[in-house]
Amino acid sequence: MSSDTAPSWQADIDRLSEQLSEAISGADDLEALRAVELAALGRKGSLTALMKRIGTLDKDERKAFGSASGGLRGRVTKSLNERRETIRRQGVLAELSDSSFDETVPGRSSELGHVHPLNRVQMEAEDVFVSMGFEVLDYPEVESEFNNFEALNIPSWHPARDMQDTFWLESGQLLRTHTSAGQVRAMHALKAPFRAIFPGKVYRYEATDASHEHTFHQLEGLMIDRHVSVGHLLDSMRTLLSAILRREVTVRLRPGYFPFVEPGFELDISCQVCEGTGCSVCKQSGWVELLPCGLVHPNVLRAGGLDPEHWQGWAFGLGLSRLVMMRYGIDDIRLLLGGDARFVEGFHPGT
Ligand code: DAH
Repeated sequence: MSSDTAPSWQADIDRLSEQLSEAISGADDLEALRAVELAALGRKGSLTALMKRIGTLDKDERKAFGSASGGLRGRVTKSLNERRETIRRQGVLAELSDSSFDETVPGRSSELGHVHPLNRVQMEAEDVFVSMGFEVLDYPEVESEFNNFEALNIPSWHPARDMQDTFWLESGQLLRTHTSAGQVRAMHALKAPFRAIFPGKVYRYEATDASHEHTFHQLEGLMIDRHVSVGHLLDSMRTLLSAILRREVTVRLRPGYFPFVEPGFELDISCQVCEGTGCSVCKQSGWVELLPCGLVHPNVLRAGGLDPEHWQGWAFGLGLSRLVMMRYGIDDIRLLLGGDARFVEGFHPGT
């Protein structure tokens, strides 16, 4: 292109191109290069400003300007990247040629992490329930008194409150004492019929020992349908236990009282830690309460907005922490959340 036919912006593009390539090759370290990059391509950069000029040009000149300035931008980006690579490589070479560098020193190997046994068992239990058509829900640990007690047929005067010593918050809310607090939440959130589980941490204000902890894990299950039976409930429980414990376990069902189910049951399993002979985990009885359950009380259905004339449900509150202890033969619940890394390191992937 001869100089008298060259468009007026061509010279500016050429000048900027020259300036930038000089600045890029003159940058000796990554910081300086970054400064060059910002000065060219940043919001107020020289190339950015040049490219904005397109708005001031005639329609027929825009195409030529767009391709010339875009081409420059492409070249600049490329040389920035190349320069960055060169600087990095030079850095490594300099380090290697430093006489204090000893390439025979062994490298640092990174340690493989471990999934906490509670999380592992929870994930496996979730898989089992998902395969049976359950949804997995997550509910808050800070709860209202209504969801945790009232809606579950446990008014303030009810003696059942004494069984769940509670951490109260100044706001009048509480740390949920059981995952059952999610039951009415689920009834309001999902359209019946539904099946859902909601695992999580629960809190009790109580003295700790080998089988009691102020913070532990439960997994609540709730199935709502037109007709449900204890048979469905037991079959789901058995499917879960054999999947998690990977062996046939002896279970026993006995009546249990919980204000939010009628009838209510305790499903116990023979203690897997001592194989039924008696230890601190099973309080020398050979049995461990693992799965309290029952048919949802009509008052709870009402609190969840469901008409007990049309809907029924069953629920269970699996002691997830206890199940983990049974699976791995852990004899003290306090180890689970004790924060000792050596404990978790004992659980290798695949165990
Ligand atoms: N929420 C009860 C507790 O922590 C356990 C429980 C009992 C849950 C019976 C249930 C149930 O869903 O049906 O002591």
